[in-house]
Amino acid sequence: MIICKAKDYTDMSRKAANIISAQVIMKPNCVLGLATGSSPMGTYKQLIDWFKKGDLDFSKVSSVNLDEYRGLAPEHEQSYRYFMNTNFFDHINIDKSRTHVPDGLASDVEKFCRDYDKLIEEVGGVDLQLLGLGRNGHIGFNEPSDVFARDTHCVDLTPSTIEANKRFFESEEDVPRQALTMGIRNIMMAKKILVVVSGEDKAEALKEAIYGPITPQLPCSVLQLHPDVVIIADEAALSKM
Ligand code: GLP
Repeated sequence: MIICKAKDYTDMSRKAANIISAQVIMKPNCVLGLATGSSPMGTYKQLIDWFKKGDLDFSKVSSVNLDEYRGLAPEHEQSYRYFMNTNFFDHINIDKSRTHVPDGLASDVEKFCRDYDKLIEEVGGVDLQLLGLGRNGHIGFNEPSDVFARDTHCVDLTPSTIEANKRFFESEEDVPRQALTMGIRNIMMAKKILVVVSGEDKAEALKEAIYGPITPQLPCSVLQLHPDVVIIADEAALSKM
């Protein structure tokens, strides 16, 4: 595990974008595992800048996203598909038919989840998975639990995640109570994992993820078992180390 210290959010985003750029340059038809949330937004912005300058070509890249709120249509402004389109895909030359985000409206959830697992395999597996951390240590929407969930599944969001994510909705009641998420096996199968962590509210989870026991009560602690993880964290996120 490599822990890379960034001065602040901008520096973190630039460093993360550098790693993603290297991946896209070295393997133009790579599969990127992508994340939503405020943590990776700056990374996407930086990648868009470099794309516009002509330094990057996403035309052969495929992507699979970690998660999606259950019950939100792709056009819903708080859906993760909408987030990905507006914060990244609409501004680069990626072929949208090769971008995949779980379907929040899937009626047969179990079948959808098995198909999403298959899809990840069919595209060749994830070369580089970008991750943010939830304040409670969740990755994707794998919430603290008694067991590590293996594959793509539907999850009940914890009160702390609903509280943390309500800032994006008009009120707390509007935050969906469930989500579809890749499981821990899906995430751990990625060849390389890049974690971006910013802010003091993530400091405790980050410290425990690196130095604490590996436990499903802190899902990100499982990353200790992955052979190729880079964590880029700003000074605030590293403040408890
Ligand atoms: C959400 C997402 C995660 C994300 C986390 C942290 O719940 N499902 O993938 O990493 O929140 O979000 P943020 O980066 O906004 O703090």
